[in-house]
Amino acid sequence: MRKPMMAGNWKMNKTINEAVALARAIREQVNDVNNVDRVICPPFIDIPMVSAELMGSNIAVGAQNMHWAESGAYTGEISAAMLKNLATYVIIGHSERRQYFAETDETVNKKAHAALAAGLTPIICVGESLEQNERGETQEFVSGQVKAALSGFTAVQMAEIVIAYEPIWAIGTGRAATAEQANDICGGVVRKAVNELFGDEAAATIRILYGGSTNEKNIGEIMAKPDIDGALIGGASLKAESYVAMVKTTSELYC
Ligand code: 13P
Repeated sequence: MRKPMMAGNWKMNKTINEAVALARAIREQVNDVNNVDRVICPPFIDIPMVSAELMGSNIAVGAQNMHWAESGAYTGEISAAMLKNLATYVIIGHSERRQYFAETDETVNKKAHAALAAGLTPIICVGESLEQNERGETQEFVSGQVKAALSGFTAVQMAEIVIAYEPIWAIGTGRAATAEQANDICGGVVRKAVNELFGDEAAATIRILYGGSTNEKNIGEIMAKPDIDGALIGGASLKAESYVAMVKTTSELYC
């Protein structure tokens, strides 16, 4: 059975002091919820202090981005080697990175390879825009994103990769996909694409998250769906109360 994951993407929020306080509150309340993987992804600058705060806990840290090169003349960038020992996961190709920072399927694939080579677990984001959704292009587009992101990997590596389906129209809008819609794409498109590339076992192994306006109210319905293995949570991960509630709801469902 795939272990569920509640991953909080804090985006560009939280000063160091705020980040440490939030990490501490989360640790105090859900450190022992061992049937759910808990991952928090603060901004780069907060990672060392958050990582120290969570030392010895069961809560993992992730970054929100990284560069694919090992080192070099890339002003403002952070490599996988720099994250190693501070983080376990790294979000790659979030739609905000694709939209505002010109990330492409090609750079997403390069980053995913660099992450895995360094021992970080990539959380690769895919998802269609509202226009694509309305034109009926979701399946083809998302399937293409998944296949491009996973190019050059092997079936066994699917155990070390996470994919997050985040429809752009659902991010930060308060308009989450319905649990049915989310499950249809996570299963019928993302898992299917993995199956086409790597076969049944890899498809059954890879964890697929849903992201986009998840909160403590809708998480139960979403997590009850068979092809959804977790959530990538934006706004609701910025408050301990809502994030903790989402972890606990998931934990009860998987008991
Ligand atoms: P919201 O949960 O705020 O919609 O953000 C989702 C997201 O983009 C997580 O990466």
